[in-house]
Amino acid sequence: MKIAPSILSADFSRLGQEVREVESAGADAHHVDVMDGRFVPNITIGPLVVKALAQVVKLPLEVHLMIVEPERHVEAFVKAGADLVYVHEEVCVHLHGLLSRIRELGCRPAVSINPSTPAPALSEVLHLVDRVLVMTVNPGFGGQSFIPEAVPKIAWLAQEAEKRELSFEIEVDGGVGPATVAQVAAAGAHQVVAGSAVYGAKDRARAIRAIRAACEAVS
Ligand code: DX5
Ligand code: ZN
Repeated sequence: MKIAPSILSADFSRLGQEVREVESAGADAHHVDVMDGRFVPNITIGPLVVKALAQVVKLPLEVHLMIVEPERHVEAFVKAGADLVYVHEEVCVHLHGLLSRIRELGCRPAVSINPSTPAPALSEVLHLVDRVLVMTVNPGFGGQSFIPEAVPKIAWLAQEAEKRELSFEIEVDGGVGPATVAQVAAAGAHQVVAGSAVYGAKDRARAIRAIRAACEAVS
């Protein structure tokens, strides 16, 4: 299981040190939550901060766009140094076109779905993406409780990938920690986002080990 700590729960007054610390603690990627106060109630950061992070991180930067009209902003985030960009299915009128454009811009295209969005809504774009993000909270804030009803969608996506011989990965975002990760691992997730479970812990290396240990109990 790969782990992408979400900087949403980091100390923003010392962000550079925070991201370096989770890298030494054993993280696999950085998850950057971009919120616009429209698609979700909260407002966070833009390309400027992604650009600053890109200069100090060694691990991939995945950018989770929780914004309306993402087509207006993807290029800026790619130029800022995003390695992978998630757009939400719920706000994309031309999802197929936008995912293709992200690839053309030289970035890894990826798509995210809210807990209430059925996974088959992605059927016609699964061949275009490198990763699917299954939200297990309603996006907007860190530290919310895991929504278990979303778990069967992970299994459906894993079966679909196998059946159609597609190579996309499945990532899970929201309320994931040692107590909830086993069920997403069992359903077929390859990677999890962990915000409060990692950045909220004093000892980040220990927090990452605890998540991995909970997965090993499954396999
Ligand atoms: C929620 C964000 C998540 C969030 C995860 O809107 O997309 O990435 O930061 O935080 P935790 O792990 O605390 O639920
Ligand atoms: Zn996220």
